[in-house]
Amino acid sequence: MTLRLRLLDLLSDGNFRSGQWLGSQLGVSRAAVWKHVRALAELGLDVQAVHGKGYRLAHPLAPLRRGAILRALSPAALARVDSLDVLQEIDSTSNFLKRSSLTCRSDVSRICVAEHQTAGRGRRGRQWVSPYGSSLYLSFTRQVDGAGLHNGGLSLVVALAVLRALRQLGVDRLAIKWPNDILYAGRKLAGILLDISGESAGPYALVIGVGINVNLPASAASEIDRPWADLSQCGRSADRNELAARIFETSMVVLDQFMREGLTPFAAEWQCYDAIAGREVELQLDRDNRIRGLANGIDGQGALVLDRDGVLQCFHAGEVSVRVKE
Ligand code: BTN
Repeated sequence: MTLRLRLLDLLSDGNFRSGQWLGSQLGVSRAAVWKHVRALAELGLDVQAVHGKGYRLAHPLAPLRRGAILRALSPAALARVDSLDVLQEIDSTSNFLKRSSLTCRSDVSRICVAEHQTAGRGRRGRQWVSPYGSSLYLSFTRQVDGAGLHNGGLSLVVALAVLRALRQLGVDRLAIKWPNDILYAGRKLAGILLDISGESAGPYALVIGVGINVNLPASAASEIDRPWADLSQCGRSADRNELAARIFETSMVVLDQFMREGLTPFAAEWQCYDAIAGREVELQLDRDNRIRGLANGIDGQGALVLDRDGVLQCFHAGEVSVRVKE
């Protein structure tokens, strides 16, 4: 473990520790402790320094642990794990899985979680703000044959899987903004990114990336240009290890059913959580092209149905981004 991580470990319970005590534990001077505290702050961690008391993390931090994630999985889900990497820092957990050339059986997944992403990716080329330790950054692979994709709807059912996992952990007031933004009380709590590769005849290799805001420090939150929420605002101090396990587990269940039966069995559940149904929305088709209409649910392929003065038009995820008009 690097000195920086040992320091983080000593501060992880959120209690004050004096510079002298930290220095003695780490075998370095107080000045060196200060240098490493600054390095933690540069990672986006909220470290408070109070004269006469020392240093503490503004929010206690339970580190990601491989054993804790594996222990939280049911035997059925555990049997679906080919590998689990828990990383301190990576450009993007999804890129990590896309780069790794390990091949695996079609019924098992490779999973990666990280404390920090230096180049977290969002949908439509956006950045995903990824400060150290304050969110969940989770990616996992899944292999599907062409028929299993059922012409669409995959990204919607992954959103339902994430929503089910959050509900199991006691989070309510959840909704989904088409195609797959998870909202808490109308603000974005989690996002999903799908990377699909493979020949047109399949099989396809999916990398499913899920980002959930857990306890965002103010410095990171100021970089987000849309209304956002984190789990601390939901009154939940969810353990990220448990959260990762729940999301993997619900995703396996949902994806197995989707591969067999398509989107139809999920339509009622989708409707129940559709955040924009009946609302006036603006779709951005490309840089200079926007249209307005009333959101009218989804079609059998998961496309958004827009009512434009009584004329219904369908739009597929990836083609458009949606803004709700207030
Ligand atoms: C969105 O724009 O709503 C999608 C955000 C997806 C973020 C996650 S975090 C884990 C994985 N790694 C990434 O680089 N992106 C996804």
